[in-house]
Amino acid sequence: MLSEIKKIAQNFAPRLIEIRRHIHAHPELSGEEYQTSAYIAGVLSSCGLSVKESVGKTGVVGELIGSGSESRTLAIRTDMDALPIQEYPKLDFASHNSGIMHACGHDVHSTLGLGTAMVLSQLSDSLPGNVRFLFQPAEEIAQGAKWMVKDGAMEGVDAIYGVHVFPSIPARQVGIRYGALTSAADDLEIVIQGESGHGARPHQAIDAIWIAAQVITTLQQAISRTQNPLHPIVLSIGQIEGGRAHNIIADRVRMVGTVRSLHPDSHANLPQWIENIVQGACQTFGAKCQVDYRRGVPSVQNDEMLTQILEAASREAWGDENVQILPEPSLGAEDFSVYLDKAPGCMFRLGVGHDGQTNYPLHHPKFEVDEEAIMTGVVTMAYTAYKYWQSAA
Ligand code: NI
Repeated sequence: MLSEIKKIAQNFAPRLIEIRRHIHAHPELSGEEYQTSAYIAGVLSSCGLSVKESVGKTGVVGELIGSGSESRTLAIRTDMDALPIQEYPKLDFASHNSGIMHACGHDVHSTLGLGTAMVLSQLSDSLPGNVRFLFQPAEEIAQGAKWMVKDGAMEGVDAIYGVHVFPSIPARQVGIRYGALTSAADDLEIVIQGESGHGARPHQAIDAIWIAAQVITTLQQAISRTQNPLHPIVLSIGQIEGGRAHNIIADRVRMVGTVRSLHPDSHANLPQWIENIVQGACQTFGAKCQVDYRRGVPSVQNDEMLTQILEAASREAWGDENVQILPEPSLGAEDFSVYLDKAPGCMFRLGVGHDGQTNYPLHHPKFEVDEEAIMTGVVTMAYTAYKYWQSAA
């Protein structure tokens, strides 16, 4: 089956490059992927899949019906949105949409979803179960997966695979991680209310700026002294505002930040823990405060069995030398985790780096991929789907 998949994928290679370049040249922002999803729906229909549009606003779902007796449904998720970045105009097929760029490789992801659908649709007679392709909008704002799930995209799904390109892994290689792949990412907003006064007479005021400094310091120290060091937490205050003049004590400070954590227990406890620390520091010095902790996305936790299937398929397809078992998770976030509430899943990293060259990072205006990776990704995903049904039910 592997050689058949490789042969079919190879025949589609020029078409897939064309698809990827078309999507790259026409990027759309999160939640506005109208042209992209119409284009994707067209390609899916032409491969004989049953297609539903407007699932999760601008999302698309394509279902490939297998011919076997297997009742399980496997989902493959790729995302479609671009970023508000002005692309450095180097490529022939650079963005036609000013100020918008596929700088996170979601053009490649969409192409991988389509390529896998194209390959598997040629083999549907020997496909034991159904494959559902989810083309998700709005990953960059961590909303698209929620929208898709709300519209029923995961109903009846037994397992799900996802992929993200990675420039620090060379093209033709895949990166696989057992357990945690990405971190939970939540938003934090703290408002400290003190009392204004003259800068020369601090004892007659409640200095919100000084108390904010205490709060930030206490939070950072408390992570190191009260949290399990084997369960990493990163809390970054990225914005702070308060005060009006050099000689007026500020009565109000607002700060916002991001909170990243890998372990589900830490994630569960963080809101109350932060609330207690901030309230404690503010009360000590007579200020009032309001802590608003907003859940973003949970950590992506890869399912062990699905990861084993992916690893076996990748080793067989590309040899041990092209399969990296990733030793570390990332503290970046990915809303693929939202699907994992509904079914076990596994997300892997696809190398897109040009060997021996400077590879710009994701979200960089010069970010570029080695298109060889498209073949690697499509074959890996199509063959993993086969291996999934060969695995014990
Ligand atoms: Ni991305």
